[in-house]
Amino acid sequence: MSDRTAGEWWRGAAIYQVYLRSFADGNGDGVGDLAGLRAHLSYISDLGADAIWINPWFPSPMADGGYDVADFRAIDPVFGTLAEAEKVIQEAHDSGLRVIADLVPNHCSDQHAWFQAALAGGPGSPSRELFWFRKGRGANGELPPTDLRSIFGGPAWTRVPDGEWYLHLFAPEQPDFNWDNPAVREEFEDILRFWLDRGIDGIRIDSAAVLIKDPLVSDEYEDQPGIHEIYEGWRRVADAYSGDRALIGEVWLPDQEAFAKYLRPTELNTAFNFSFLQCAWDAEALRACIDETIAIHAPVGAPATWVIANHDITREVTRFGRKVTTFAFADKRRDTPTDLVLGERRARAAALLMLSLPGGAYIYQGEELGLEEVEDLDDSLREDPMFHRSGGANPGRDGCRVPMPWSGSEPPFGFSPADAPAPWLPQPTGWAARTVAAETGDPSSMLELYRAALRIRHTEEALGDGVMSWIAAPDGVLAFTRGHGFACVVNLSADPVDLPAHREVLLNTAPLVDGRLGPDSSAWLRLA
Ligand code: GLC
Repeated sequence: MSDRTAGEWWRGAAIYQVYLRSFADGNGDGVGDLAGLRAHLSYISDLGADAIWINPWFPSPMADGGYDVADFRAIDPVFGTLAEAEKVIQEAHDSGLRVIADLVPNHCSDQHAWFQAALAGGPGSPSRELFWFRKGRGANGELPPTDLRSIFGGPAWTRVPDGEWYLHLFAPEQPDFNWDNPAVREEFEDILRFWLDRGIDGIRIDSAAVLIKDPLVSDEYEDQPGIHEIYEGWRRVADAYSGDRALIGEVWLPDQEAFAKYLRPTELNTAFNFSFLQCAWDAEALRACIDETIAIHAPVGAPATWVIANHDITREVTRFGRKVTTFAFADKRRDTPTDLVLGERRARAAALLMLSLPGGAYIYQGEELGLEEVEDLDDSLREDPMFHRSGGANPGRDGCRVPMPWSGSEPPFGFSPADAPAPWLPQPTGWAARTVAAETGDPSSMLELYRAALRIRHTEEALGDGVMSWIAAPDGVLAFTRGHGFACVVNLSADPVDLPAHREVLLNTAPLVDGRLGPDSSAWLRLA
């Protein structure tokens, strides 16, 4: 392992998220896979990332893009084999990259052996106790046990032929496990060991705050009493391994105090900062969010993380080009006017902000190319249950999952080998200008900005984990130092602003005009 990832690497790592289906297709079937990832590991390490997070790679009917897992100890044949996954781990380590796998403890696929056994076992069988099977209401049980709604829309209960209903917080193809059952707990600790034994450095924990529930008693499922015991157990498992294995929570909770409890020294190591991701492009709002983030992490001794994109969120070039720049799933609408030029300028500025704040940072594949949300996908091609279960009102998440453009002037832009069938989602023809090849060597490209920023992140000791201090700045401007020699300035105001006294501009997202930083731009400075 290289020096840059030594020690508690997750405290300051820049983590590159690989959405495997859309990263690179090695075997020519139009779907990304492990062979494609292996062929492009050097792209990620050359970019300057310290680790990769790979979205679920397990066998799955893909009712929710792989978050419907049929077997937690194997690899979906569309991606490759377990032996190939072990090679990915080894080769990533050889190139200085840590590897984070994505585990989904709240639910499985309806094709999982346990759920199939529960269906076959019938009412009252012990196999049903691993899930939430209940009788319905009404004279003949024809009404769901409660009125709880699924996070993806529609009822959270589905009836099976023998008349019972089962709970699914997400799609019907994703039955919820019953975490009150000790067998579920033992199974997941064993699955954790299975992957840690294979050299996995970190586990991203999907929907981490919703495992505990008692659906007949209450509709509440977020952050319920008893959830912390589960992660204390996981931490004991991870700590028994040599090397620093990291537990990383997908904890969506509006209450930041409650969020921080997951990061106590006996629980998870880090968690995604969704309050930053959801924050408006507004200096005051961002400053308040950054202050709160740091304040809630400090008492538990955990590093913050900074995220502007992932496989669930409208891509930031699109988001920042809109009137409303906050993010909420419930607000997603089709046909929202968007200024992509403005969005890209802000996304560039946001990148330098995110990569210089104290803690870890996440880069979602394609973010480094400045890809926009693909909004004109034909409805017949959309796969996301969020789209289908909202009756099409919500465009869903397919638009941020379109396969990566690598090279060439037309689709599939090097995503698949020649003569392969079309990629599983079509790429816009305009991405000819957004390929890795096209952006490489162009000093004004998003890719070269990310490369330069990550290079500096590795050479500037004060970046990554540590502390920051705000410095005086005009209204609408964020300015802070890291250590004594480094400052980041982000101009979110409508006017150009003077930079604080400095010795050198290390990097800027748009040319300075008479030495001044323009609107929606940022700069990294070497101070005197
Ligand atoms: C997480 C994943 C998302 C998935 C959901 C259900 O939020 O990031 O993609 O649909 O969990 O597993």
